[in-house]
Amino acid sequence: MLDIFTIGADVLRGKAAPIEKFDDELNALVEKMFETMKLGKGVGLAGPQVGVAQRIFVMQIDGDKPRVFINPEIVETSVELSTFEEGCLSIPGVYADLDRPALIRVQAWNERGRRFVLGADGFLARVIQHELDHLDGVLFTDRLPERSRDRLLKQYEKRMRA
Ligand code: NI
Repeated sequence: MLDIFTIGADVLRGKAAPIEKFDDELNALVEKMFETMKLGKGVGLAGPQVGVAQRIFVMQIDGDKPRVFINPEIVETSVELSTFEEGCLSIPGVYADLDRPALIRVQAWNERGRRFVLGADGFLARVIQHELDHLDGVLFTDRLPERSRDRLLKQYEKRMRA
């Protein structure tokens, strides 16, 4: 299992670099990321969360297959928003409702270097947007109104001291 970096770590705040080589090393990373995600009981995990400042995330939601997104880019978003409760392995133990576009279209490459375009809605669209934010140094708490963000981060710090 890889170490999961938590809020406060610099690697979570940078802009991750594009992946250029689709090789065995990348495939080993993908495997370790899935393993770490499952042990952490998460539904998604991005490179920076395991200290890898590269544009990659893995995810698997209930009833769906494991998915790998490399150099992802959201190419379309709906005006319509939806609300989901979000949490993050890098801010363990706290959750908050957050609005984001309900539908997205994302372009990415898989671990074999094959490009794909995926239209997503519901929880799938939600996890993709959350994970993609990690590649740009953005945490879900950044997107909350200031007051709820402060409340959540205080709650988190309290948990960490306990
Ligand atoms: Ni996260």
